[in-house]
Amino acid sequence: MRYRTLGRTGLTVSLASLGTGGPSRLGQQTHGDAAKARQVIRRALELGVNLIDSAANYGDSEAILGRALSGVARSSYLVATKFFPYRDDGSIITTEEMVSSCERSLRRLSVDVIDIYQFHSVVPESYRDVVDRLYPAVVRLREQGKIRFIGITEYFFPDPAHKMLELALADDLWDTIMVKYGILNLSAEWQVLPLARKRNVGVINMSPVRVKLTRPDELRKVICRWKETGLLPGDVSDEGALDFLVRGPVSSVVAAGYKFGAAHDAIATVLFGTGNVTHLEENIEAILGPPLPVADCDRVRQLFGHLAESEGDTG
Ligand SMILES: NC(=O)c1ccc[n+]([C@@H]2O[C@H](COP(=O)([O-])OP(=O)(O)OC[C@H]3O[C@@H](n4cnc5c(N)ncnc54)[C@H](OP(=O)(O)O)[C@@H]3O)[C@@H](O)[C@H]2O)c1
Repeated sequence: MRYRTLGRTGLTVSLASLGTGGPSRLGQQTHGDAAKARQVIRRALELGVNLIDSAANYGDSEAILGRALSGVARSSYLVATKFFPYRDDGSIITTEEMVSSCERSLRRLSVDVIDIYQFHSVVPESYRDVVDRLYPAVVRLREQGKIRFIGITEYFFPDPAHKMLELALADDLWDTIMVKYGILNLSAEWQVLPLARKRNVGVINMSPVRVKLTRPDELRKVICRWKETGLLPGDVSDEGALDFLVRGPVSSVVAAGYKFGAAHDAIATVLFGTGNVTHLEENIEAILGPPLPVADCDRVRQLFGHLAESEGDTG
């Protein structure tokens, strides 16, 4: 494994880290069961992963993690989790609700302290209100020793231009940010990643492959849409738009996606979400292996760099 420093937290984190949400949720959403999820978690630790990301609302992920990590030395892993600051009607939760979410996460994870406690999927329109209402209470949790560092994650679908993270980085309140950055989502490299580096904020990259790079049908659909709307040249192949990346040590489009997601030097760690041990091993091998050739990264930016602001892949 390779390790990087997670910005101002000073934590040493594995370059490849395990996510327990996304379309897989440790396999809860797909093909897995709790025993397989446990294998994934234990294998990740064996391969040197030391950061695992979860959230209060990722189904049973926190509880599965808590059970799988029982008996594992607490000093050998870092746990990041999140609370969702909104109710179903979009209103902001109370400080009491946030504290109760934190207490539940501590219980389910079976830990005394959460290493990184994150505001989950904050949108730019309500960023200021969310911070004003909840940030002081999260600081109190830190003072009480229940959490160590405070982070914030974006909700990429309605905010592909990372407006929320631009506000967050201007505030300078955050130890870490979680951003979506990848082959079809390049816009973080314009403002967010340079600013995070300047402010020494730890950057966790989420969802670098998700569904567009793992499901050829989804990739074809988005490529066709971008061609139809003139965002991509007509001669880009519908089926094989990213096939130029698969050569030499790059075994698949998925591997290319994880390599790309880990390459930027402002990124401390790239999360992969899986419920499958083979995928886990492939992803770590991809992230730790040689980076994509510079010419291929240039081609990625030439093809997709211009549409990141308003038309980036939202899946
Ligand atoms: N706003 C937020 O806070 C936010 C949003 C999104 C994600 N996250 C965090 O970031 C983590 C990573 O995001 P993600 O789970 O969307 O990540 P991802 O790693 O980009 O995508 C995961 C998807 O790819 C599949 N996959 C993984 N490795 C594969 C491989 N080698 N070959 C084929 N398919 C593969 C997984 O299914 P299999 O189970 O079949 O492998 C799953 O469907 C989440 O788990 C979560 O912790 C946070």
